[in-house]
Amino acid sequence: MQLFLDTADVKLIAELAATGLVDGVTTNPTLIAKSGRPMAEVIAEICGLVEGAVSAEVAATDALGMIREGEKLAAIAPNVAVKVPLTWDGLKATSELSRQGHQVNVTLCFSAAQALLAAKAGATFISPFIGRLDDHGADGMELIREIRAIYDNYEFDTDILAASIRTARHVADAGIAGADCATIPPDVFKGLIKHPLTDKGLEQFMADWAKTGQSIL
Ligand code: E4P
Repeated sequence: MQLFLDTADVKLIAELAATGLVDGVTTNPTLIAKSGRPMAEVIAEICGLVEGAVSAEVAATDALGMIREGEKLAAIAPNVAVKVPLTWDGLKATSELSRQGHQVNVTLCFSAAQALLAAKAGATFISPFIGRLDDHGADGMELIREIRAIYDNYEFDTDILAASIRTARHVADAGIAGADCATIPPDVFKGLIKHPLTDKGLEQFMADWAKTGQSIL
């Protein structure tokens, strides 16, 4: 399972990439606005920090505009994945950009039927938004299971990128449901390692080791 960071904060990406466990990054217009920096500059820096896909979202809403913006974004670095919304125009742009050999992440997916269309259009990634579905009173994880079943039934090679992740439990459940990747906010990523019994156990081991008076080196 690939783990992506869902942020445009270069400092945090550099900090967490040092763990060696960050495969890629996703951004969106909200996250770019939050960074307060020019998009092309931020995306270029992020692409230098991780080897895997870095999603950069188009701002146009018509297919031609998305294709032009997508070509420009893809030229920033070879690991850019052009992010397009799940609309008819977005799917047209997906077909063309993937035909040109670019990675495409189709975002704002809230139903299995939408995910089927994105795969048929040639998406590299489909981004179902788990947290926003849960917020809406639906079961976000069920959507991951449905998409997994459809993609497996028809051997689509589009990767399921679980998005809008809110908790460490979401990450584990997305893995159980068969998501290929999860994009995770930095605070949730940091929390993935936490368990009180790990801390307690280590404390006990260190105390007992100290009693032996030994040294391994
Ligand atoms: C995905 O690519 C989006 O950037 C992101 O996961 C949206 O998450 P949110 O619902 O927390 O804004």
